[in-house]
Amino acid sequence: MRRLPVARHVGYGRVVSHAGAESPRKRQARELFAGLPAAYDRAGAALSFGQDPRWRRAMVTALDPVPGARVLDVAAGTGLVTAALRSAYDCEVVALDQSPQMLARATARFAGDPRVTTVVGEAERLPFPDATFDALTFTYLLRYVDDVPATLRELFRVVRPGGRVASLEFGVPTNPVWRAGWWTVTRTALPGAGRAISRDWGEVGTFLGPNIEEFARTWPPEHLGRAWIDAGMSRTVVRPMSFGAGVVMSGTRSTVR
Ligand SMILES: C[S@@+](CC[C@H](N)C(=O)[O-])C[C@H]1O[C@@H](n2cnc3c(N)ncnc32)[C@H](O)[C@@H]1O
Repeated sequence: MRRLPVARHVGYGRVVSHAGAESPRKRQARELFAGLPAAYDRAGAALSFGQDPRWRRAMVTALDPVPGARVLDVAAGTGLVTAALRSAYDCEVVALDQSPQMLARATARFAGDPRVTTVVGEAERLPFPDATFDALTFTYLLRYVDDVPATLRELFRVVRPGGRVASLEFGVPTNPVWRAGWWTVTRTALPGAGRAISRDWGEVGTFLGPNIEEFARTWPPEHLGRAWIDAGMSRTVVRPMSFGAGVVMSGTRSTVR
């Protein structure tokens, strides 16, 4: 199998400095995740009431890469998706994230695994040539980027034609009854549960509900599916999870560009 041309340590993929030019959305994402890695794995599962690990497993199953695949895991954070990929498949994974703090956890987690590489970098400017990877995942990323269609084009650019892509995002249930329940949980239980963990997690718990709602209004799953196709994907599948509170998408990189 061809080895990936990347270093096995945090810091290879240069994060471009946006001092003065960074958008409020980008700045918020950087600041938010800098304070979260310590409790991230447990808190993420608790704040989604145990659903999040199940959604992540569904996304990994939907990826279905070829044996021996080179996979890029974008917005890898502390490496939960990377770990699931390594357990599920014979694959080599590059875990990329713009937060050095989050990625430091992933680097420690995979210190003994020669088939995992961690790279600090941005989804909007991936430090790889076209068609480098057989498969790609991205998780809870799109709410933090300024230009969703441009980011999708950049993500799909590094996947070879015929390669596989899968993603996971939060969503909002469409059924009015579940939607009302979702609203109550995200506006009351979630901020309270976050505050019980730490001040930083309290901020996450308060920010998540309105942020997910705004994203789902702008990019409902059917629009996102269309955007995937416009950005170069085919055979896209959208799978709502937990009545739409999670959305798993998957597809195949088009052979015609
Ligand atoms: C909610 S975490 C998800 C982490 C992991 N994928 C998981 O499932 O637990 C979102 C991650 O996206 C990263 N992120 C946000 N915007 C990014 C961008 N533009 N490029 C790369 N990573 C980004 C954050 O630093 C954070 O680690």
